[in-house]
Amino acid sequence: MTAITLRRPDDLHLHLRDGESMRSVLPFTAARFARALVMPNLRPPVTGTPQALAYRQRILDALPAGATFEPLMTLYLTDRTDPAEVQRAKASGCVLGFKLYPAGATTHSDAGVTDIRKVDAVLSRMEEQDLVLQVHGEVTDPNVDVFDREARFIDEVLAPLAARHPRLRIVFEHITTRAAAQFVLGSRPGIAATVTPQHLLMNRNAIFAGGVRPHHYCLPVLKRETDREALLTVATGGDSRFFLGTDSAPHARGAKEAACGCAGIFSAHGAIELYAEAFEAAGALPRLEAFASEHGADFYRLPRNEGRITLVRQSWEVPRSYAFGAEELVPLRAGESIGWRLSEG
Ligand code: NCD
Ligand code: ZN
Repeated sequence: MTAITLRRPDDLHLHLRDGESMRSVLPFTAARFARALVMPNLRPPVTGTPQALAYRQRILDALPAGATFEPLMTLYLTDRTDPAEVQRAKASGCVLGFKLYPAGATTHSDAGVTDIRKVDAVLSRMEEQDLVLQVHGEVTDPNVDVFDREARFIDEVLAPLAARHPRLRIVFEHITTRAAAQFVLGSRPGIAATVTPQHLLMNRNAIFAGGVRPHHYCLPVLKRETDREALLTVATGGDSRFFLGTDSAPHARGAKEAACGCAGIFSAHGAIELYAEAFEAAGALPRLEAFASEHGADFYRLPRNEGRITLVRQSWEVPRSYAFGAEELVPLRAGESIGWRLSEG
């Protein structure tokens, strides 16, 4: 039996939701990760520092007894974000940045930014204060092919934005394409990317395997095998600009198994284990720790975590569903197995 021990990792892109739903999913993340950057796309969105601090406290209050877990916060950028919010966020010490959702790009993004030029003053202030911009990188024009939206966003929005704000630190979240990997590799300092487990392990065939698979639908959507290979190469290659962000995004079963099912894959129940599978398949297990526990902390200028977790190479069957508040959710690999197990204690 093989086992690996890692410095305790950070999940630098996570959806926890709120209330009873949050109570259902939070223990999975807290068992594996020391910290997570919690996305602000609640209803209503978390747009101000006081709301983020209140949300952070609700997360802390919902933690299982004995858990040590630190929520890291980001604010939801809107057309009307006041540049003065940047100072309030910085002064709080708990808010690491702002999240850019192009309006309409994904789940709960209708309050997002309609034109990037509307937030230029906020971005300039962030540059001064050294807060990080987290970017959902897809154009929203319904006439653009859904598989091309990330690549178009790079050319039309992200590259010009990075040039207009040369000191702004940017995380290109949940990258899904070879184009995005190459953009980050070729970009100026201060630009990094998170990569999800699903985009390292699956390509778009997984959405259509034997029929429509709503639980494999997330945004940005899974891409081609050549894209998956490019993501695996950069994630496992040791480059410090690529780090772990699961984008675990729980939804009730009924919201996904529907005529218009919503986007989001839940992976928190086996997140680090799924990354271990991907790294093992690439022959790169020794580099998992840097990707999961060092690069992200370093980019955000956080101390690396002191604790350790151990993963055992032992297959386990994923339940068909987990409770999700009063409802249930279907996790990634439901009814199938994951090849690594988190060692308890
Ligand atoms: C996320 C969600 O459900 O909140 N969904 C997803 O498919 N990733 C939103 C997002 O991060 O795009
Ligand atoms: Zn997300």
